[in-house]
Amino acid sequence: MPYKISLIGAGNLGWNLAHAMSRHGQHVQQVISRNRAHAQELALQINASFSDRVEELDPSSDVILLCVKDEVISELASRLNLNRQLLAHCSGSTGMDVLSKSSYRYGVFYPVQTFSKQKLRDSMEVPICVEGSGKEAEDELFTLADSISNKVYRINSSQRLHLHLAAVFANNFSNYLYAIARKIADESHLPFEILKPLIMQTAQNVQDSEPLHVQTGPARRHDQKTIQKQLELLQDKPELKALYELISEMIKNEFPR
Ligand SMILES: NC(=O)c1ccc[n+]([C@@H]2O[C@H](COP(=O)([O-])OP(=O)(O)OC[C@H]3O[C@@H](n4cnc5c(N)ncnc54)[C@H](OP(=O)(O)O)[C@@H]3O)[C@@H](O)[C@H]2O)c1
Repeated sequence: MPYKISLIGAGNLGWNLAHAMSRHGQHVQQVISRNRAHAQELALQINASFSDRVEELDPSSDVILLCVKDEVISELASRLNLNRQLLAHCSGSTGMDVLSKSSYRYGVFYPVQTFSKQKLRDSMEVPICVEGSGKEAEDELFTLADSISNKVYRINSSQRLHLHLAAVFANNFSNYLYAIARKIADESHLPFEILKPLIMQTAQNVQDSEPLHVQTGPARRHDQKTIQKQLELLQDKPELKALYELISEMIKNEFPR
């Protein structure tokens, strides 16, 4: 039996979850978003009803998924008056208990991936981490996640905070390092294309090896001459120089001579 779902927040994650759930046999019957046009645009695509008011939440929904910005989860939840309906937010860095006053059954449905409205993902490959206020709530969230993903994990709020921290390093920071690389290439009129195979290979390497086992570069080799030359190139970029020095030191410490 498919779950009847109301999805609140027609943003980047909302679009991806709504499409994935509809595609995999769940029944997203309602989309609610602050901006009525946004709710309508998504609802029309998946044949759901829509509203811009959480007070119009469909009481027949089994599951209410909050796909809104972290800052408004708590306030929005406090406006919901639920009974046995299962309420979940999708945030990596928000505790489960912010939902405790809004329903008897609540939890977290956290997909570990970066999403955008423009590019819908194959949800089967997206790890989803669930946590429930009780066994029954968690089992239901697991079943829902399992219907759209091959990679479902049960993790608690403390583990999720650490997972989100790890994801910031793995995704947000490494992406920002790519942006720095692009800037350096641009300044020397080099096409960023030259670096793309290297970036792909770096991500590929950790699919089947330990990250530290595939670490390369001057710091890994303790090649002080090269490090010095590169630091000179960063002479007029004190922040980048400090960043380079810090990361190089950390790598050297991982691989004592
Ligand atoms: N995007 C990701 O990569 C990703 C990955 C994992 C988890 N998450 C989690 O998913 C949640 C949503 O993130 P997102 O990236 O999808 O955010 P987003 O693109 O900014 O979308 C948030 C949506 O929430 C709606 N909204 C904001 N305030 C609202 C309110 N008071 N009432 C009803 N709707 C409201 C907005 O509606 P309008 O557009 O109608 O104004 C917006 O469409 C967050 O908890 C985030 O941590 C996101």
